[in-house]
Amino acid sequence: MKLGKRLRAIEQQIPDEFDHIWDCCCDHGLLGMALLKRQIKATVHFVDIVDCLINELNLTLAQYFLNNHSVTSINQRSGLWQTHCFDVASIDLKSSSMQSQKHLFILAGVGGDKINTFVTQLLTNNPQSELSFLLCPVHHNYKVRNHLQTLPLGLENELLIEENKRFYEIILVSTQSREKVELVGNKMWQLQLGTHQQYLDNTLTYLTNKLKNKNHPDFNLYRQAHVEYRQLQQLAKSCLTK
Ligand SMILES: C[S@@+](CC[C@H](N)C(=O)[O-])C[C@H]1O[C@@H](n2cnc3c(N)ncnc32)[C@H](O)[C@@H]1O
Repeated sequence: MKLGKRLRAIEQQIPDEFDHIWDCCCDHGLLGMALLKRQIKATVHFVDIVDCLINELNLTLAQYFLNNHSVTSINQRSGLWQTHCFDVASIDLKSSSMQSQKHLFILAGVGGDKINTFVTQLLTNNPQSELSFLLCPVHHNYKVRNHLQTLPLGLENELLIEENKRFYEIILVSTQSREKVELVGNKMWQLQLGTHQQYLDNTLTYLTNKLKNKNHPDFNLYRQAHVEYRQLQQLAKSCLTK
């Protein structure tokens, strides 16, 4: 049940202020179980679309967290964990007493396009609720950020981490914040760090290649992101020379 660096960093971003935390696309449920181990006061919901994963998870949870189990339906808030086998995009709190409570949806380990679909759908399904989203796409971070700018969500916090030579952005947004989500990030950057400069270089190389295809539907977005990353790179270079 040991978390890797990425999941640990995500877990550490979660304050103990929510009524419900949804470990969406939970797979083996490592993240949600770390929250249960921490004895977080929220009900932890494990959601995955694959039924054998949820069946297996039910056994593991019953073994390690039996006393916390809630056998109630999605509509009641009385237990510390529940499992659900359905599409994340279908979560609808409207008909339940949970609507007026504080929810955090964690969407990690899936691509940017999927994250954009899930966030949009969850906001559409639950317009009256106070929602937060903790996002960690496996790629296309600027696509996620670009999409977040179109939604009624503001930035709470953001972080850049490296695990096994791969970089991940962790982005916490909420319906309560009015702070703009920047296309290439803002407060996550520590430009004096070699790892952050490495991430900038990698991303710029990737975007430079993408810009070779002028017909790509995301060409304008790539171009805008390229300009902003270049500006950050200049800033990073000036940090180095100081
Ligand atoms: C790579 S795992 C991510 C696990 C974990 N969140 C992480 O960050 O390590 C992706 C999981 O997403 C689940 N998934 C994909 N689409 C889904 C959907 N529409 N609704 C619920 N789960 C979904 C898959 O079944 C799989 O278990």
